[in-house]
Amino acid sequence: MSSKNVLPKTMEYKNGDLYLIDQTRLPNETIIEKQVTIEQVWDSIKVLKVRGAPAIGIAGAYGLLYGVRDILDAPVDKFMQVLKEKAAYLDSSRPTAVNLSWGLKRMVAKAETCTDMTSEEIYKVLEQEAIAIHEEDKILCKKMGENGAPLIKEGMGVLTHCNAGSLATSELGTATAPMYTAHNAGVKFRVYSDETRPLLQGARLTSWELQKSGIDVTLICDNMAAHIMSQGLIDMVIVGTDRVAANGDVANKIGTMGVAILAKHFGIPFYVACPSSTVDLNTPTGADIVIEEREPNEVCNFGARRTAPEGMKVRNPAFDVTPNELVTGIITELGILQAPYIESLASAYKK
Ligand code: MRU
Repeated sequence: MSSKNVLPKTMEYKNGDLYLIDQTRLPNETIIEKQVTIEQVWDSIKVLKVRGAPAIGIAGAYGLLYGVRDILDAPVDKFMQVLKEKAAYLDSSRPTAVNLSWGLKRMVAKAETCTDMTSEEIYKVLEQEAIAIHEEDKILCKKMGENGAPLIKEGMGVLTHCNAGSLATSELGTATAPMYTAHNAGVKFRVYSDETRPLLQGARLTSWELQKSGIDVTLICDNMAAHIMSQGLIDMVIVGTDRVAANGDVANKIGTMGVAILAKHFGIPFYVACPSSTVDLNTPTGADIVIEEREPNEVCNFGARRTAPEGMKVRNPAFDVTPNELVTGIITELGILQAPYIESLASAYKK
């Protein structure tokens, strides 16, 4: 069974408008929300209606169209100035996933190649570029699936953290692409999905999409991973990432580094899956990655119920950085890269 057949599209561009599944409402409600303004797209990214590194790269590219579609009769220099301002505005919604700034930079760079065109003509080129970013992501996910699937053998237990699934990309996901590909090839394996406090992407999203796709998935709380590993139930970890630094350090959802340390303790291979749009050779190491700090109330509440005393001091870093020495391999569209990452990433991606 293909995930494409059972999962709703993460996002769709139809008749000049972007439609997103509101991921904050899953798994209880599948609400498709039409985006109408660039401010709405900014907010959808900020509040995680659309989330996951590749998905926000795609949404950002489409979102930028809203920022300039009312000024198609403006002179080109004015159009370009507004385009750049709006790209910077959308980029301010979330800092850690490089895909967002990558997509926006790609859109602006494309516009800059449009010499001797009117603003309206540039807009049409940009619309095609956003569609291309979206379509290319589908191919990248498919290739990551093909490259990573052979790692998953019959009977294995695979642990994942957060949602690096179909919902975090155009389709198929990054960490889940090898799972969907292996599953479609008839391989039987078990997935353990970390709940992923505080916003529960593992419980609400990964469990939902894997279950819907017919994959054997078991939900665990984050603090159960060590116990489950100690029982010999996990043969491999596969996670996604929001940014891979030039030395192979990987930022991903908070808690990922802990999983990597546990995997090392138990001798379990720890794989990271990502497309080229997540590799940032301009960021030398993980220490240079900006970690998003989110609102304290995400930690002080469990569902509708407040769980911390009023006035409590809270930290809410949304990501952590796993040092490259804990990463067994990086599953990419080009194959599985291995240490030393400073060399393998550079030779795979340097232009
Ligand atoms: O805060 P989120 O839900 O956007 O965090 C998402 C993750 O950390 C994913 O693992 C990452 O973006 C990889 S997505 C293919």
